[in-house]
Amino acid sequence: MIKIGNVNIGTNVLLAPMAGCTDLPFRLIAREHGAKFCFYEMVDSNSLIYERHETYGNLKTDKKDLPIAVQLLGSDPSGMLKAALRLLELVKVSFLDINCACPAKKVIKKRAGAHLLRDAPRLYGILQRLIPELPLPVTIKIRSGFNKKDDDNIVEMVKRCEDIGVSAVFVHGRLKTQGYAGGIDYEAIKKVKDAVRIPVFGSGNIFSGESAKLMLDETGCDGILVARGALGNPWIFKEIEEYIKTGKPPKEISLPEKKKVLKKHLDYIDRYKSISASGKAGFMRKVAIWYLKNIPSASNLRARITRETKSCQDILKIIMEI
Ligand SMILES: Cc1cc2nc3c(=O)[nH]c(=O)nc-3n(C[C@H](O)[C@H](O)[C@H](O)COP(=O)(O)O)c2cc1C
Repeated sequence: MIKIGNVNIGTNVLLAPMAGCTDLPFRLIAREHGAKFCFYEMVDSNSLIYERHETYGNLKTDKKDLPIAVQLLGSDPSGMLKAALRLLELVKVSFLDINCACPAKKVIKKRAGAHLLRDAPRLYGILQRLIPELPLPVTIKIRSGFNKKDDDNIVEMVKRCEDIGVSAVFVHGRLKTQGYAGGIDYEAIKKVKDAVRIPVFGSGNIFSGESAKLMLDETGCDGILVARGALGNPWIFKEIEEYIKTGKPPKEISLPEKKKVLKKHLDYIDRYKSISASGKAGFMRKVAIWYLKNIPSASNLRARITRETKSCQDILKIIMEI
């Protein structure tokens, strides 16, 4: 079974961190349908230190919400250590990941996220400060490059991180400049996998059992992260498990089943999310639209949900009419 540091994580198919998506309701639904390991939404070190209400809300959890990992965003080693220690007082996690992958302009400007790919000394400084002080494994999530294919440098950087004591690496096989579009650089992920002894996880375009197997076969990686493939599709975790075991395509999820799970997801949002009523309705609209992919007259339904709903009841009414 796969281990990160000295922690057995029990699976090699993990729910990826997705800011604004993988909150407690999302994780509970994913776990009920086969996800065996999840990430919290990313935590910004400064927001944690300055006690922003929303950041604390994002750390809401439940006893069913285990095992889990947390990802920290930041650029200053001492600030990140302070934030990491504060985090560990608040949550019980299997490991702590450092975000070196976020492409958002405001994050890059603060020298965090994917900026660390082109500022390796800063990344090493963060790891050297955190790893000896923290009582749990530390991992990194990177991209395959910043603005150009850069396999040799990325491999050297990961090897150095391994020497400093990083326990695993998650590689999103796209450049920072690609955002979330375009194909996956399996070759770069494979080069990282071949160069280190720590577990390597591939990320990018995992939308089915078939694409999960492709990532594993093409790169030889130890495990994968499921990201956008899980939006409105919590069944993907079982699908991947089944496909890898048997090679069988999944059976289609029926419309009544989709409606039932969406309703439950909206119930969880209502129960667990502490935001304003209008914020909640907006969030529910986003979630409902995820589930409407690939169903007949989806575009019409999406438009109606966007235009005609102001509350959970309005959204449910449209869904139940389908
Ligand atoms: C809405 C959204 C939010 C994301 N937030 C994070 C994040 O906070 N931290 C992170 O490391 N990656 C984040 N990612 C990247 C995913 O974890 C994943 O690496 C990426 O989407 C590639 O996988 P996919 O092509 O299968 O979606 C995010 C992706 C999306 C779509």
